[in-house]
Amino acid sequence: MENPKTSVIVTVKNPMKIGIPKEITPNERRVALTPEVVAKLAKTGNEVLVEDGAGEGAFFADDDYQRAGAKTVSAAEVFGNADIVVKFHKPLDNPRLGKHEVEALREGAALIAFLYPATNPDLVKRLMARRITAFSMDLVPRITRAQSMDALSSQANVAGYKAVLVAAEVMPKFLPMMTTAAGTIRPAKVLVLGAGVAGLQAIATAHRLGAVVWGYDVRPVVKEQVESLGAKFLEFDLGVKDTQDKGGYAKELSGEAKRKQQEMLAEKTKEFDVVITTALIPGKPAPRLITKETVTGMKPGSVIVDLAAGTGGNCELTEPDKTVVKHGVTIIGPTDLPSTMPMHASQLYARNVVELLRLIIKDGKLNLDFSDEIIKGTCITHGGQNLRG
Ligand code: NAI
Repeated sequence: MENPKTSVIVTVKNPMKIGIPKEITPNERRVALTPEVVAKLAKTGNEVLVEDGAGEGAFFADDDYQRAGAKTVSAAEVFGNADIVVKFHKPLDNPRLGKHEVEALREGAALIAFLYPATNPDLVKRLMARRITAFSMDLVPRITRAQSMDALSSQANVAGYKAVLVAAEVMPKFLPMMTTAAGTIRPAKVLVLGAGVAGLQAIATAHRLGAVVWGYDVRPVVKEQVESLGAKFLEFDLGVKDTQDKGGYAKELSGEAKRKQQEMLAEKTKEFDVVITTALIPGKPAPRLITKETVTGMKPGSVIVDLAAGTGGNCELTEPDKTVVKHGVTIIGPTDLPSTMPMHASQLYARNVVELLRLIIKDGKLNLDFSDEIIKGTCITHGGQNLRG
């Protein structure tokens, strides 16, 4: 029987042109679609245009794309000919095009990328001016039906894993217990603050590497998940009952609860060798969990990896994309961890995107049902309008 999921993609009569440019953001090594996914799209009748060298950073060669059924072409051909362009990062001024990527898109084309429209109002205006139908991958609703498209989660998973390796590399200790002829070395203690996707993966990874792991989150419902990964759950009484909204996300803490949390963490972090912070409140600056004073109280040689560095930092002393040493504590603020594991990060993103493509393409055309929660949630501009404005 025909698979109903693939049957909605496209007809051979009317191929959709899907374009994959090379990312131009500095240090970005991921590519939005991998040969694995390109083969699926080509098989269902789409024409796939991949910019020359687009997959190089993730170790996918032009040959791999050609074998999968794509054409490898120039940047100008990708942007100028594709019906849908799929990227990781928001469009930028592209030296290979000699213009802004939005201006290089065909008028009325579609675009899929992490666009963060709330913080990029000028980009939204540009997209409207060119009547681009733009889908923002950061807005995929976190509902069961959209799980396979949840690119924030797939990339956060990579970041959570890599955060532990980054900490392990700079710490002056082993993570696991070591029994040697020279005696026994005690395992390191790792504390993970925020037990969402990134935090849970960091907990699992640190546990696999042999550390003694503790997890903490304002949402007490995650206790069970933390414990199921072999970690202990840190419990504080902040005097707040409702720490979670209807969508399951953490609520911002009040001034008093925030202060209490900081004080309790200042006490607790003294015991740990590694603190990985992943706390996030959607649409808000990162909650400040670790103050300057807390860092002063931590053990010399300990390490903080702040995954929220890109949104203001969970630690007051974090500097985005830098490693700083303060009071003997190494504080690392990486903002691009998924791009340091480009092969799997690309593979996961590509699988997320193909699920969105399956939803929005029918019979070789964009088929936009705005009563669909996923389309309504992710589509930010269409037909010259700002759909969120
Ligand atoms: P998420 O929304 O799934 O999880 C965030 C967690 O923080 C939630 O469980 C929430 O309850 C918790 N939280 C919120 N406020 C808190 C507080 N005051 N105290 C303790 N816990 C609190 O987010 P996800 O997808 O796991 O991402 C986590 C962070 O990692 C985000 O800041 C995200 O931007 C970042 N990230 C960073 C990357 C990098 O390369 N640095 C890559 C991918 C994600």
